[in-house]
Amino acid sequence: MAPKLLITGATGFLGSHLLQAAQKRWHPLGTYHRTTRRNAQLFFGDIDNGRVDLTEFSETKAMLADVQPAAVIHTAAITDLDFCQENPDDSLRINMLAAVNLAALCSDKDIPFVFTSTDLVFDGAKAPYTEDDPPTPINIFGEHKAMAEEGILTAYGDALICRLPMLIGYARLGRQSLFHKMTAAFRAGREVPLFGDGIRTPVTAAVAAHGLLQAAGSGFEDDVNTAEIERAVGHLHLGGRDSISLYEMGLLTLQILGLEDQLAIPVSLLDTYSGQQATQSLAARSANIALDSSRAYELGYDPPPLREQLESLLPAAWRTQASADPQIEPGTGAQSEPDEPSK
Ligand SMILES: NC(=O)c1ccc[n+]([C@@H]2O[C@H](COP(=O)([O-])OP(=O)(O)OC[C@H]3O[C@@H](n4cnc5c(N)ncnc54)[C@H](OP(=O)(O)O)[C@@H]3O)[C@@H](O)[C@H]2O)c1
Repeated sequence: MAPKLLITGATGFLGSHLLQAAQKRWHPLGTYHRTTRRNAQLFFGDIDNGRVDLTEFSETKAMLADVQPAAVIHTAAITDLDFCQENPDDSLRINMLAAVNLAALCSDKDIPFVFTSTDLVFDGAKAPYTEDDPPTPINIFGEHKAMAEEGILTAYGDALICRLPMLIGYARLGRQSLFHKMTAAFRAGREVPLFGDGIRTPVTAAVAAHGLLQAAGSGFEDDVNTAEIERAVGHLHLGGRDSISLYEMGLLTLQILGLEDQLAIPVSLLDTYSGQQATQSLAARSANIALDSSRAYELGYDPPPLREQLESLLPAAWRTQASADPQIEPGTGAQSEPDEPSK
């Protein structure tokens, strides 16, 4: 029997990719929160018992005792930067306290624990960032993630903190990614403002899921071995190999789709999110938060070049005739507003 892997936030963008990718070597079990049980069953099959509010300690404890996983990957979070800025108490409860509590419970039972953190713990002043760089968050979300990292490592010295870059791809449920909105707009012939100074090291959610599973014990080389996590313990950056602005990523996407460059409009992140517009309700965005992920590459994490990853997301039908039926239909949420660098 494959070892049980508990994935919190399994209905989320990353969690749903993890749930899918983990089927190969693990017995994945997912948790979710606001998603209806019906949708969870419809979209994700066998996770209908995983409805739990991780901000409730007793619920979390009971769920963990019930599942008895061989390892945990914690992705549950509130990831809307502006929501977190406006609702810091809600952000603190799930993004920091719930994560630290879950890590402490795992520590008690010696269950390997992987936390999904973010490049947004950095301010953008000195990219590329290595694992040795201290967090310098500039918004509430980044601050709570940085606090969670510290709290987790205090509660559980053997925990693994994976800092992820901006993730691209399509969510099955819930909030659409920037990439989703961008490609939907491009295909509809709409212009998309994209930050020329927002530099990231993006990977697809599927590539990030693979890296997390490797780190959690799917083996950077071969079969599941939860002792594998010990090789990576502490902080680990899982960024892509290409350091690229969101505007350049838009151009690359247009090139692959065979569409006109003019649909990508360069705008400035610093102009948009500083000065008058940086209000209490608008979270500041970091400019260049490229991750230096050499440590993970040395361990065996091997993200393909960005172009290849983009090609894997954009069905061939979209590239040759825009009217062809796509396999994945972007939703209706495409908006002509500046993109929101990810969580
Ligand atoms: N997406 C990115 O570009 C990106 C980049 C870097 C790092 N990350 C990190 O990756 C992780 C996942 O991000 P994501 O984009 O996949 O997030 P997401 O799509 O917003 O999903 C969040 C998940 O958390 C669950 N959740 C929220 N509040 C909960 C609560 N109180 N109790 C239990 N579950 C709760 C949600 O369940 P329901 O939907 O059922 O309520 C959902 O499954 C986060 O830690 C994020 O910081 C993401």
